[in-house]
Amino acid sequence: MARNYASVAFTPEVKALQERYGSRQAYAHMEQKATGTRLSDSESNFIQERDSFYIASIGENGFPYIQHRGGMKGFLHTIDPQTLAYADLRGNRQFITVGNAATNPKVSLILMDYARRARLKVYAEVEIVAINDRQDLADLVIPEGYENIAERIVLLHIVAFDWNCPKYITPRYAMEEINQMVAPMQERIKELESEVLRLKKQNELFTANSPH
Ligand SMILES: Cc1cc2nc3c(=O)[nH]c(=O)nc-3n(C[C@H](O)[C@H](O)[C@H](O)COP(=O)(O)O)c2cc1C
Repeated sequence: MARNYASVAFTPEVKALQERYGSRQAYAHMEQKATGTRLSDSESNFIQERDSFYIASIGENGFPYIQHRGGMKGFLHTIDPQTLAYADLRGNRQFITVGNAATNPKVSLILMDYARRARLKVYAEVEIVAINDRQDLADLVIPEGYENIAERIVLLHIVAFDWNCPKYITPRYAMEEINQMVAPMQERIKELESEVLRLKKQNELFTANSPH
């Protein structure tokens, strides 16, 4: 099922526009490169580090729908080089994404690493799996303590994926990353504060003992 990303993204109308605006030749090369059908360690590691992603699905009325999914780092699991999975936990019970996927399994994901300015795009087909049907998968993807509210497992069969250029991604940091970055500065501030205190005391002593 897996295909080269460009061969999915470049529909006839997209190609016609590339032709019209002069970029077709360059992109024809990209289309021929047989890349991006199996996740390498680079993509798997990237996915494992994510604590959120965006997923677009298509409604019965043809409207695309996009939703942000968030969870513990690594909640989107790489099952094998062509399959991702996550536990669909009970939420607001609107069921828009799963409802859309029931009539059209085609979805698109975008995974962002704002801090390192990287983004991965994925085309996939959804398979909804009942928790009781796949205990092995359930054990893997349902976070500990969430067994009671896991409603289903969403399997994503990868059709194609591609990295996007980092340009225009504004670096943003999670609290955890900010804490890590400021830790050495906080340590240095503490050292300097005690140094200032020591010097102040030394100065007071010196002033008190000096002849008037
Ligand atoms: C109690 C509760 C828990 C939720 N937990 C999550 C969560 O873990 N991750 C998340 O992305 N959204 C969570 N949400 C928000 C939405 O329910 C969630 O995004 C939902 O999957 C929306 O899907 P839909 O827009 O496709 O219907 C939660 C909402 C509620 C009310």
